[in-house]
Amino acid sequence: MGSGARVAGRSAAAYERALELLPGGVNSPVRAMRQIGRDPVFVARGEGAELIDVDGNRYVDWVMSWGPLIAGHAHPDVVSAVTAAAAAGTSFGAPTEAEVELAAEVVERVPSAEMVRMTSSGTEAAMSALRLARAATGREQIVKFAGAYHGHSDGLLADAGSGLATHGIPASPGVTAAQAADTVIVPWNDPAALGAALAESPAAIICEPYAANMGLVPPEPGFLVALRDHADATGALLVFDEVITGFRVARGGAQERENVTPDLTVLGKVIGGGLPAAAYAGRRELMELVAPAGDVYQAGTLSGNPLATAAGLATLRLLDESAYSELDRLARALADGLTAAAREAGVAASAAVEPGLLTLFFSPEPPRDYEGAKRCDLDAQAAFCRGMLDRGVYLPPSQFEAWFPSLAHGDAHVEQTLSAAREVLAEL
Ligand SMILES: Cc1ncc(COP(=O)(O)O)c(C=O)c1O
Repeated sequence: MGSGARVAGRSAAAYERALELLPGGVNSPVRAMRQIGRDPVFVARGEGAELIDVDGNRYVDWVMSWGPLIAGHAHPDVVSAVTAAAAAGTSFGAPTEAEVELAAEVVERVPSAEMVRMTSSGTEAAMSALRLARAATGREQIVKFAGAYHGHSDGLLADAGSGLATHGIPASPGVTAAQAADTVIVPWNDPAALGAALAESPAAIICEPYAANMGLVPPEPGFLVALRDHADATGALLVFDEVITGFRVARGGAQERENVTPDLTVLGKVIGGGLPAAAYAGRRELMELVAPAGDVYQAGTLSGNPLATAAGLATLRLLDESAYSELDRLARALADGLTAAAREAGVAASAAVEPGLLTLFFSPEPPRDYEGAKRCDLDAQAAFCRGMLDRGVYLPPSQFEAWFPSLAHGDAHVEQTLSAAREVLAEL
């Protein structure tokens, strides 16, 4: 495991070259680490719970590709499933039995899912689920929550969290006024504001049932039930974006854990086991509106890709009840240890935690909405991340993200992280 002085020769050279060839040197904004004021690490490989950079430095990885790698890097079952699939052909643009198998796994686990449509990214899946909701209701407006992120499709970029929060972009240039006007933004955990927004008769209310793109901000007791009741009362469809929580917080995602069933569910990350796959799913009569069963058009050259399907199936098969107790135990050990370390160091920090997910907030109490998350001490958070990276712990380089424990992490990784955290917090 990582220790000692870190070198950055090859990472620095790769970044310099990348800046000439890729906007900001990266293919997705948060990777650039701008919010914590340093240059990114270029990765050579991953082993279990650890990353090895191009300079040979080792890190305990709590990012895990931002969630897909619930089994860890290069899990042997996943690698052999993908290798076998690749040897049989990487893409056909024709149906395969494995896609049906994966759909069956989703339907068996996720309470709201009777039928499934695969896509290649969570962005596409969320966008397509909302197209379906609009078609099914004959309405246009969508209600979303401030600080929630549902991918980068035009209408969903208003007040989104994740990379947008990190970069302080309220909405992106290039989004038309008409697209933005179709999205109504409501504060998270505020039932009264939601009631007012629903006077507009939206097609759908979309939420991350455990918001995790403003840092992890779980729903307050009763809030998800209120969403279900409001949707029923107004004829809007309830869409749970479980791209992060799906197959992570429980076998059937947050909807199983909270016992609230949405009309449509968006899945991503874990469903592809580290390869590009996502999906949307829901009741049969809704899903049969999708082409070619119905006329709501949506398609994809690589949708249900054989390699991604194989990785997803191999990953889901590792996720039994004991896996979820372990993910819960790890996340709680980390959250408890970090808050204790902050207390000892006199740093105002608090943790939000769910099975397989946590965020350390640099505020005395965990926030209950996006405004609260934005009030955290972002300078302290940035200094903490930089110090941890220097000590071989790779954290999400932003306050507005969650940490992702995996089945490859163990007590030694938690201990290494906590001992680095004690040192860094003492210096803050
Ligand atoms: C909740 C949520 N929805 C949708 C997305 C978009 O998924 P993708 O990055 O695969 O397009 C993300 C990505 O982080 C997400 O966290």
